Amino acid sequence: MTRHLVTSALPYINGVKHLGNLVGSMLPADVYTRFLRQCGEDVLFICATDEHGTPAELAAAAAGLEVAEYCREQHEVQRRLGEGFALSWDHFGRSSSPQNAELTTHIADRLMANGFIEERTTRQVYSITDERFLPDRYIVGTCPVCGYEAARGDQCENCTTVLDPTDLIEPRSAISGSTDLEVRETRHLFLLQSKLADEVRAWIDRQEQWPLLTTSIARKWLDEGLHDRSITRDLRWGVPVDRPGFEGKVFYVWFDAPIEYIGATKEWADLAPEERDWRSWWYDAPDVHYTQFMAKDNVPFHTVSFPSSILGTREPWTMASYIKSFNWLTYYGGKFSTSAGRGIFMDAALDLLPADTWRWYLISNAPESSDSRFTWGHFAQTVNADLADTLGNFVNRVLTFTARNTDAVVPTGGSPGEVEAHLAEELDGLLERYTAEMEGLEFRKAATTLRAIWAAGNAYWEQSQPWKAMKSDRERGETILRTGVNLVGLFAVLSAPVIPDTSATVAAAVGLDDLAWPADGAAGLSLVPPGRSFEVPPVLFTKLDADWVAAQVARFGGDDDPGAGAG
Ligand code: MF3
Ligand code: ZN
Repeated sequence: MTRHLVTSALPYINGVKHLGNLVGSMLPADVYTRFLRQCGEDVLFICATDEHGTPAELAAAAAGLEVAEYCREQHEVQRRLGEGFALSWDHFGRSSSPQNAELTTHIADRLMANGFIEERTTRQVYSITDERFLPDRYIVGTCPVCGYEAARGDQCENCTTVLDPTDLIEPRSAISGSTDLEVRETRHLFLLQSKLADEVRAWIDRQEQWPLLTTSIARKWLDEGLHDRSITRDLRWGVPVDRPGFEGKVFYVWFDAPIEYIGATKEWADLAPEERDWRSWWYDAPDVHYTQFMAKDNVPFHTVSFPSSILGTREPWTMASYIKSFNWLTYYGGKFSTSAGRGIFMDAALDLLPADTWRWYLISNAPESSDSRFTWGHFAQTVNADLADTLGNFVNRVLTFTARNTDAVVPTGGSPGEVEAHLAEELDGLLERYTAEMEGLEFRKAATTLRAIWAAGNAYWEQSQPWKAMKSDRERGETILRTGVNLVGLFAVLSAPVIPDTSATVAAAVGLDDLAWPADGAAGLSLVPPGRSFEVPPVLFTKLDADWVAAQVARFGGDDDPGAGAG
């Protein structure tokens, strides 16, 4: 039987992530994992903080902390927020772990032994004022491609071009702002990607099922020609390079970070070595189906650089079976930005509303085929129409009415008629579509179908008019109520991947403790047996009105038309 390994791109340690980061990697990975678990699959869901490199050092310096201490604190912050968003990681690791250092060293050794790593003398920017080399983000300047003035030495944030510090126009130190820079010679290790390019391309060419967004970015990189890249840096914080002449140098963060997918699995196994085997997931593991989730800026590293490192070891490491990538979620059409503090961050979001509200909004508007635009008005409309009016209202209406008529016990009278047979058939079709969309990682479509399932329940209840039937034909009435309570149970099951907290509340109310994915519509309508007592949960979602929207716009910024209301 296939086992499923799921990873999401590892969030940088430098501060709380925003909703764009969440929807582009961690959240869809969680939805998919939860779906697989409900289907009875064996799944391992791994994430970690990406802790090395200049972003961590710079953020620690700004916070006035030692970098190790800064990372320890921020890892806990990110763990807590991830748990707040109900991200159901099997393990949330740290790329600064000894496990990762060991694996990174091993992989580099293998690449070296196989002739894919070479030592070269390079010309690096040295800051006379700061008395050190300025790798990557330690240097800023104007992007030679798009002219953006605050481009960093490793990548232009504006046009995503990957840069070398010496490419920048009018460079300056990010530490001191000094322009008193010179180019000095120093030794570094280079990964000879050019030697592996054909193998990487052949691997990409075999992935016929992958989303176009993923393969087109990969091919663009391959077509531009793979350059041999320096994989070491003049930094203290990172995996040390164990090699004479490399004292004070570490591996480049993009070299060790993806290896932490493996490292974190080893961290997980080391917590319970008797029962867990990390190698069975990563080494010579043909039964493992490995799905990676990431935003599009991460695709080159996962389709080209990391696979080069892995292929060059000539060892049977697990490689991605499927790479799901995302476009951007924008904040009013502009970039969410950690550096500029623009947009909504995970901590602020949870202070405002329960996780499920955000989870539903983000998944139903996932930036899959194009960018998605967040606005407070649209957010409020989505919450009100889908969660409050369609799902929440149904659950409360059905359970309140049924409780009032049956002393809160699922009624036993009557038997399903033509209307129920028709409903089961309709649910059958919707369930089949929903399942296929989840399997196909089409999150927006899956959310649309889930909403259609909720709507089908509402339509059934409206059309069957149980309030009349209970007076005129009690048996018929009881059939409708029992079907209604079962729809509530079915909604708890089917909504669980996306809105797990709400699902748990609803499932508990109707005494459902097994959320196994139903085989078909009819099975979905017999989850809650007749005679079982149930409870009416409190109102599940509160509506967000125009004043609420206006208050958020005032606090976070935005240009919602205040007259338009929340709809
Ligand atoms: N920290 C990177 C980012 O946020 C992602 C690293 S993914 C990894 O863009 F696989 F390399 F770890
Ligand atoms: Zn640029």
